[in-house]
Amino acid sequence: MRKPIVAGNWKMNKTVADALKLVDGIKQQLKDESKVDVVLCPPFTALAAVGEAIKGTKIDLGAQNMHAEKSGAFTGEVAADMIRELGCHYVILGHSERRQYFKESDEIVNKKAKAALAAGLIPIVCVGELLADREGGKTEAVVGTQVRGSLAGLSANDMLKTVIAYEPVWAIGTGKTASPAQAQEVHAFIRKVLKEMFDETVAQSVRIQYGGSVKASNAKELFGQPDIDGGLIGGAALEAQSFIDIVRGAL
Ligand code: 13P
Repeated sequence: MRKPIVAGNWKMNKTVADALKLVDGIKQQLKDESKVDVVLCPPFTALAAVGEAIKGTKIDLGAQNMHAEKSGAFTGEVAADMIRELGCHYVILGHSERRQYFKESDEIVNKKAKAALAAGLIPIVCVGELLADREGGKTEAVVGTQVRGSLAGLSANDMLKTVIAYEPVWAIGTGKTASPAQAQEVHAFIRKVLKEMFDETVAQSVRIQYGGSVKASNAKELFGQPDIDGGLIGGAALEAQSFIDIVRGAL
């Protein structure tokens, strides 16, 4: 049985003061949702404060990115050990915004995933097709290439720890959600690729989140699909009530 995982990707939102208000709201309303792993991914600047604020709760902390190298002359970058030290258990890697605006290739994402795992972090590796890919019938080709490239060379053991997030780029921040059937189809396809790369146990055990305009109103149906194990939430994670309602959609 795969445990659902719902993560809030706050992107470049929330000062420390705003982050603490949001965490407070989430903590007040989150009761015994122990059947779901709940992860908050604030910007780097709020990691320490949010990490402190969630101590003693079941909420986990995640970063939105990291560099693949352990240290060195990489101005503006942050290494795995640095986010680990602030209490992060997770790190989002290869988000489509990183791929699009910061030119992250599958090769870079792969290096980062290996560095994250070596540092004891759980990578949430994002994949997803552009609208043109979908319209051109290339969804499986694109997603398959991303999965194979981003996860190349991982041991089965490391893969079992890793989380995949399927986020169709056309559904991110657009209000256009993939239908549950559309999302399910790609999730099942990702498991097929994992079976080819690893084995059936890995394919059936890895958690695959859906992301892209998830809201309280559509979360339950999306998360109810057989191969969808929770979600990676952007806009709707910036407000306590809507995030909690989405978490409950995974129960
Ligand atoms: P939205 O939920 O705002 O569409 O963003 C999804 C996302 O990119 C999460 O990583």
